[in-house]
Amino acid sequence: MKGIVLAAGKGTSLYPMTKPVCKPLLPVYDKPLIYYPIAILMQAGISEILVIVPPNETATFTALLGDGSQYGLKISYAEQPVPRGIVDALLIGQEFVGDDRVCLVLGDNIFYAPTLGATLKKAAASPAAATVFGYYVEDPRPFGVVEFDKNGKAISIEEKPRYPKSNYIVPGLYFYDQQVMEIARALKPSARGELEITDVNLEYLSRGQLQVIPLEKNFTWLDAGTADSLLAAAQTIKEIQDTTGRYVGCLEELGFYEGWISEEQVHAIGDELEMTLYGKYLKCL
Ligand code: G1P
Repeated sequence: MKGIVLAAGKGTSLYPMTKPVCKPLLPVYDKPLIYYPIAILMQAGISEILVIVPPNETATFTALLGDGSQYGLKISYAEQPVPRGIVDALLIGQEFVGDDRVCLVLGDNIFYAPTLGATLKKAAASPAAATVFGYYVEDPRPFGVVEFDKNGKAISIEEKPRYPKSNYIVPGLYFYDQQVMEIARALKPSARGELEITDVNLEYLSRGQLQVIPLEKNFTWLDAGTADSLLAAAQTIKEIQDTTGRYVGCLEELGFYEGWISEEQVHAIGDELEMTLYGKYLKCL
């Protein structure tokens, strides 16, 4: 399975913060935002990743992540010339995905749970043609909202509904089979002029092929799209790290646990970053 991170948002809603530095490179507590969605793909067992970046930003992202080999990854980059919606990431990634299955994650979505790795690996290995998640929030209106019947089966999904039919939103993490490219190519832009991921999910739903997994109470999902949610995300990451003693989104650690890089490689990076807690953490692994 291939992985795509859509990190092409300039982050205009976060100006002036994002004038010189685009949103996915902003810090969330002690790491750049983009580390967290990459960590999601790694925990799903995915090591071949296409990062979709804003125009003229390939060099800045490469300076941070390189070719990914330091984490045991194979990272490549593509620029999104015009923000045309989430589905555009799939179209940009067509050649990269080839005949494989694909997991798409949004560059500002952060997930945490003690059992996250197991949940993600199960979703990646699922025979379902498409798998998404349902996450309970107080105000679902700014998101894609999924409605379940009394047997827990998904029956509708609506993008940013004025009157949501449930409190379960679909976070920005999607697992699809090979049909997704044909679905994406046939899609028409929505009223807001975007190729909506909700329309892709609706197509799978109408084919009877969409699995929606409700995330349990011990899951934390954060969308760092506004100044408030960015700050809340940083506070939550700090709190989780302080209470568990474990880092969230530590790519070297994840590469090591997936067996993609050696103990020596992790410790060498730890030596380089020795002046930071992050470096000391790597040295203790
Ligand atoms: C997008 C999707 C929405 C999803 C959300 C998760 O919203 O369209 O379905 O629930 O990401 O972050 P947007 O970022 O376009 O507002």
